[in-house]
Amino acid sequence: MNSVKLKQAANLIRKAKYTVAFTGAGISVESGIPPFRGENGLWNTTDPIFLEIGFFKKKPFQSWQKIKEIFYDSLSDAKPNLAHEVLGKMEKRSFIESIITQNIDHLHQKAGSQYVYELHGTYKQLVCTECGSEYDISFADLNYLPPTCYICKGILKPDIVFFNEPIPAFAKKHSFEEAEKADVFIIIGTNAEVLPAADIPVKAKEHGATIIEINIKPSHYTNTITDIFLKMKATEAMKEIGKLLYL
Ligand code: APR
Repeated sequence: MNSVKLKQAANLIRKAKYTVAFTGAGISVESGIPPFRGENGLWNTTDPIFLEIGFFKKKPFQSWQKIKEIFYDSLSDAKPNLAHEVLGKMEKRSFIESIITQNIDHLHQKAGSQYVYELHGTYKQLVCTECGSEYDISFADLNYLPPTCYICKGILKPDIVFFNEPIPAFAKKHSFEEAEKADVFIIIGTNAEVLPAADIPVKAKEHGATIIEINIKPSHYTNTITDIFLKMKATEAMKEIGKLLYL
């Protein structure tokens, strides 16, 4: 059954004027990065409070200890998987215009994608909570927590969106614009639980996009906006789509 739907999806992408991908934690699971919800979900074992901005400001040391453990100790050597790589090749062959990602793992860029909007920020950057100075993570020694600003000694935070923090204005604006321009919109590996990110595929649908969804199980989109549901792992579906597009 998937083979018919895979051919339909590849034909849609081939004929599309403006294809956009929207990715969540599920696309990075096969790179060894656990998702947030469901099987092995991070929130099953870690209290999300450590990533709440009020808690971070009150207890930066405790917050940083957990953030280092759940993100920095694992993400630095994470590698893109086949799904990230096929999306990178699709961009090079102009089969895709941009990627909107909820992920902070930088794996789309590591796989060669250039037009990536990071709705929830990136672990690769730290920002000073006092003066706003920005640092690449390579400048910080995370053996001494919390890391501090070289300029004003303020506490540095990962440039990721904490709970109760707004989405970066640039990424939010361009993500909704991309969704409105898309005639084909590919959703890969997201539960669609977090706003305003979860509204972006709905915006694409409202503006006439055909929705292709890849997930190992149905999400909140599957029986509402999805047109072609590929119940597959991201790497399996993207491998077949890559073959059908002769990448
Ligand atoms: N291939 C495809 N999909 C997968 C795979 C896989 N190998 N493994 C898991 N999935 C799917 C799950 O079925 C689920 O629908 O990926 C999704 C992961 O859901 P979440 O863990 O909720 O991740 P996401 O939707 O990206 O979360 C959004 O929530 O906590 C915040 O900021 C965090 O960016 C995150 C946001």
